[in-house]
Amino acid sequence: MAKLLLGVSGGIAAFKALEFVRLATERGHAVRVIQTHSSKRFVGTASFAALTGAPVLSGEFERDPLRGSFPGEPLGEHDPASHLALVGAADVFVIAPASANTIAKLANGLADNLLTNAALAARCPLIVAPAMNHRMFEHPATQANIALLRERGVTIIEPGTGRLATPGEHGIGRLAEPAELLAACEVALAPNSSWRGRGVLVTAGGTREPIDAVRHIANRSSGRMGFAIAEAALGRGAEVVVIAANVSLQRDPRIRYIDVESTEQLATACAAEAETADVLVMCAAVADLRPAAELNGKLSRGATDRLTLELEATPDILAGLAAARRNGQKLVGFAAEHGAQGIERAREKLQGKQVDMIVYNDISSEGIGFDSPDNEVTLITAKGEQHLPRAPKSTIAMQLIEAIEALQP
Ligand code: PMT
Repeated sequence: MAKLLLGVSGGIAAFKALEFVRLATERGHAVRVIQTHSSKRFVGTASFAALTGAPVLSGEFERDPLRGSFPGEPLGEHDPASHLALVGAADVFVIAPASANTIAKLANGLADNLLTNAALAARCPLIVAPAMNHRMFEHPATQANIALLRERGVTIIEPGTGRLATPGEHGIGRLAEPAELLAACEVALAPNSSWRGRGVLVTAGGTREPIDAVRHIANRSSGRMGFAIAEAALGRGAEVVVIAANVSLQRDPRIRYIDVESTEQLATACAAEAETADVLVMCAAVADLRPAAELNGKLSRGATDRLTLELEATPDILAGLAAARRNGQKLVGFAAEHGAQGIERAREKLQGKQVDMIVYNDISSEGIGFDSPDNEVTLITAKGEQHLPRAPKSTIAMQLIEAIEALQP
């Protein structure tokens, strides 16, 4: 995973930088933070230190107790000769929030604190996320400074529009959301990623099979695992389409979503979208059985205490897509298995469905799988198996994307 250096300048949006750090560390990245002195009036160093597991630096003459290393790295034997060791080791330097004052300094090459010194010395990709009052953002001086930074190859993450910190003020200037900042870092980390421009189709959520006009057979899939995979692929530069079966999670504007409800609708959408996908990850929990006939209107209890519902098997969408796959297209299926012999059944699915990988999760384990923030999986391919220990779904998703990349064409 990467070494991310975060520069925090003064602004009310500094609180969002904490969430960025939480997301980045959850993804497995090592994060160090440089704060300007004024940013500490908004968020204290203790919060960043707790989330990163590393001390925060502010001044050029301050000693770094970690001697320029990132969390997870061995401590250097000597104090680094330069206060710029941190930026020298970083894979990406993101400044969020970047105040109008900091942006002006960056544009003019000023180096009057550790953050601006580090920005001048950065050889890694530099990402700047402005956040300020809309009148300050729209001022020609700020706009010219931003344009200059862009010309020099700095990635600018545009602020959002909405309610601003000052009561009653509305307009452009809100810091981009932490997930967007992280996605930008990951794109910058992988400029030559083999995922860039590749079509990735992910199915997420769980299908609903109608019984009558108001009832259906459903499952407990939240769509979290599928959405995390989609975001991980997006972060590597892929063109991502998600077919979402009954998912109510927040959406990323850079991903195209197609909403479906039933297995039949999922199958139709998959057939259409698979034609242009280079990689398909079938994470949706698809009903294996559905009512043989949908009853008209609302089924009434009537005089009976018991009702028999006739179910029929649904088509195996994944197996069908595998049978029709294009040359070079990679197919990944999931196996939600329960209990002791689960892994055996998952191995059989690799063969049975003719896919390149099966992601096995034992849904009898507490706290993973359906509708939980974490997962623990085993990746099964013809060449071997890789266990991914329990971690947030976003981390599992990143590891899965790496494993898919390693699959031979
Ligand atoms: O959404 P979350 O709350 O985050 O939960 C994640 C998850 C538990 C749903 C996910 O990790 C998972 O296991 N998804 C697959 C669930 C499933 O349907 O497993 P299965 O073993 O029944 O099916 C095997 C594979 O065949 C799956 O890729 C499935 O999408 C596919 N399938 C199944 C039936 C069918 N008729 N057509 C299919 O294509």
